[in-house]
Amino acid sequence: MITLGIESSCDDTSVALVKDGVEVLSSLVSSQIEIHRRFGGVVPEVASRKHLEAILPLLNEAMEAAGLGFSAIDQIAVTAGPGLLGPLLIGLSTAKALAWQLNVPLIPVNHIEAHLTASFLAVGRCPEYPFLGLIVSGGHSNLVYVTGPREFRCLAQTLDDAPGELFDKVARHLNLGYPGGPVIQKSGENGNRTRYRLPRPMAGKGYVFSFSGLKTAVMRIVEQEGESLDMADLCASLQFAVAETFEEKVEMALKETGAKRLAMAGGVAANQVLRKHMQKVADRNHAELLLPGIHLCTDNAAMIAAHGFFTAKEAPAKSLEVNAVANWDMGGPHNF
Ligand code: KG4
Ligand code: ZN
Repeated sequence: MITLGIESSCDDTSVALVKDGVEVLSSLVSSQIEIHRRFGGVVPEVASRKHLEAILPLLNEAMEAAGLGFSAIDQIAVTAGPGLLGPLLIGLSTAKALAWQLNVPLIPVNHIEAHLTASFLAVGRCPEYPFLGLIVSGGHSNLVYVTGPREFRCLAQTLDDAPGELFDKVARHLNLGYPGGPVIQKSGENGNRTRYRLPRPMAGKGYVFSFSGLKTAVMRIVEQEGESLDMADLCASLQFAVAETFEEKVEMALKETGAKRLAMAGGVAANQVLRKHMQKVADRNHAELLLPGIHLCTDNAAMIAAHGFFTAKEAPAKSLEVNAVANWDMGGPHNF
């Protein structure tokens, strides 16, 4: 069963072909990072235009890279939300046109749910339930207990910023560049993680995240230190604070749910400090850590195709009428 995946929810256009939900035949990403860099963030109108330019050439390239003709496509999975509406519509319209022309099913996929499937795709396995999922990206910070392809119990989410958003905002303030996560990681590589005291937001307060206070705390240090600020130490201290924050909540969830698998996904899951801390907490609790490589952590269409494969049965009957949605809760109905 060959699934074509299409992703365009933010600033990456991506097309992939996945066999039986577990084998990536091709996965191509056209990144717009260089274009948005000068604005310090994603400009939705610019992103839509770039998706439109990129999507058809990328589709042809992905087919070629997989060595397949269009007639080999059995079904099409596409991100329908959440994300930026304009960008989403480019992928969704392309997928609809192709599904109609090839007369194959169209599966609308929830982007956030798909991030978790990427953890299993990375090791060529079907998702095994139940598992604990941590999604950390530019827009999300969700700790969920997963019992089926579209069955999620939300344990914790953020009250304000997501961790990627925190990194992006701090990096912009410090003139380090965009996106913030990778530059903060690089800058903090040889830094002293205990040099600057930063809070562990919501520590001891149960299942809830909050990252905007950390941003304020960083700003205060920058102001106080002035010329003597050590950037490497600050970046190391910030990553340490974020990693310890997640470690505490994940440990609590592993203990309470008794989950034997932990999957971490989303752009921030690429962070080396966070990966080490998750490995530690998983080992301590005798859980297996499923961690996608960097290319499957950041936005990609392979995870959309894989998730579409596992949720095909739940796709709405009139999927050609589905609309793009900016907000769509994990596991929520396709009521749009
Ligand atoms: O999942 P993603 O590609 O897009 C969505 O937000 O859906 O995540 C992008 C986020 C950005 O905020 C970026 O700064 C962050 O992931 N990121 C990282 C790293 N690589 C990307 N954060 C920390 N460390 C990294 N190595
Ligand atoms: Zn994403």
